[in-house]
Amino acid sequence: MPGQNRERKVFKVVRGVDTSDGAGVRLTRVIGVPDLLQHDPFLLLDRFSSDKPDEYIGGFPPHPHRGFETVTYMIAGEMEHEDSAGNRGILKSGGVQWMTAGRGVIHSEMPRQESGLMQGFQLWLNLPKKEKMCEPRYQNIEPDEVPEVQLSPGVKVKVIAGEIGGMKGPVQGVYTDPEYYDLAMDGGSSVDFPVSGLKSCFLFVYQGSLLVSGELVEEGSLALLGEGDQVRVVAEKGPAKALVVAAVPIGEPIARGGPFVMNTREEIMQAYRDYESGKFDL
Ligand code: CO
Repeated sequence: MPGQNRERKVFKVVRGVDTSDGAGVRLTRVIGVPDLLQHDPFLLLDRFSSDKPDEYIGGFPPHPHRGFETVTYMIAGEMEHEDSAGNRGILKSGGVQWMTAGRGVIHSEMPRQESGLMQGFQLWLNLPKKEKMCEPRYQNIEPDEVPEVQLSPGVKVKVIAGEIGGMKGPVQGVYTDPEYYDLAMDGGSSVDFPVSGLKSCFLFVYQGSLLVSGELVEEGSLALLGEGDQVRVVAEKGPAKALVVAAVPIGEPIARGGPFVMNTREEIMQAYRDYESGKFDL
């Protein structure tokens, strides 16, 4: 396709910051840190990965959200989730919970294991002003609903949202038209990974290291990609895995207050008042 293969360059590489959230869950925060407060429409990216129960057993007890979406993707382990709308389910290894908090949800995510590895990601995706107070919605994706496609020799992609290599992901109807891919590359493999030119995009390496548009990105680092339609990725030093995520930017003012993300400070204060007066208990 002539004229459609502008190369996206890496314009910033960010290393995560070790922190904890919920009831003492150790995690690495990569978006939502001083070095990268946000990357419109992405508000937060956490990676949790531990085989020490002390570092995850406390889980994420009940807490509210308003004004955006939370996406939990499990790589290893199991969590049970429950919310104020009566939804309940088990998030299994390879499964996804895509929650549109909208006007307000109280939810919890608790480990369903007392030993072994727990690994996964949580992404916060913003909503535009006109969608921030929408009805809450859940899309619970079972591991076997996530299709996998081979893009080139030694290069496989699990498609959670978006479409690539003729394969469509199960997550549909999300405002920012997100693409969410889990990329696995054999050592020595390479790919020209297509990403719509209209979208903000990042690549987060969570195993091994990758050459991204000629720049080495190590495990635990996130590469922000500039404008273009595709990115050249090479697994030069051995097998590697990465999340590739893209979505349409929103371009509105952002006001953050703990678990709420709105457009103005007054809307944040209103969210706290609504939560304290029980308006989130649907
Ligand atoms: Co939450």
